Amino acid sequence: MGQKGFTLWFTGMSGAGKTTLAQRIYEELKHKRGLKVELLDGDVVRTNLSKGLGFSKEDRDTNIRRIGFVCHLLTRNDVIAIAAAISPYEDVREEVREMIGRDRFVLVHVNAPLEVLIQRDVKGLYKKALAGEIKNFTGISDPYEPPRHPDVVVNTHEETIEESVAKIMRHLEERGLLTPVETGVPGV
Ligand code: ADX
Repeated sequence: MGQKGFTLWFTGMSGAGKTTLAQRIYEELKHKRGLKVELLDGDVVRTNLSKGLGFSKEDRDTNIRRIGFVCHLLTRNDVIAIAAAISPYEDVREEVREMIGRDRFVLVHVNAPLEVLIQRDVKGLYKKALAGEIKNFTGISDPYEPPRHPDVVVNTHEETIEESVAKIMRHLEERGLLTPVETGVPGV
């Protein structure tokens, strides 16, 4: 059976674990399964494809539409596209879902309570946002709309990375987007 293209879209607030999970799945699909896969990470995309865009709703929407468009091109050519961007707005996420096609789009909500994210503060951005040094910061001074129709929710304050990865892989297999492989790991 040939490879089927789809888009795996991670949404969630800064520091929730989108990049970590996206990279783990990328490695699994590319190196362990030998599939064609591309990763579009918000932080990286903003240094090239979306260079110059800021964090107003308009600019975020433009960023998400650009990432979505590239995912659409890859998906229709049977490449797996993985996107990891805050993508805080429901309307544009759903627009991207429609463009790609609902049966080829998987929305993962990477969730953790704001208190946990503030405590983690891997990049030190929450501290700055709380001090008012960064304006329009998601979760602090800018909205994050949790997805109303996620395909998978991972709670990164309660699950290990391995558990979250396994949950996502299981969903992809159940949807028929990936062929199950014998891993030898119980429960996977
Ligand atoms: S999105 O809203 O357009 O989807 P994207 O995922 O590309 O955002 O970029 C978010 C990253 O930009 C964060 O991980 C953080 O490192 C950085 N950043 C800088 N300013 C902000 C801000 N005001 N709100 C959120 N993230 C910001």
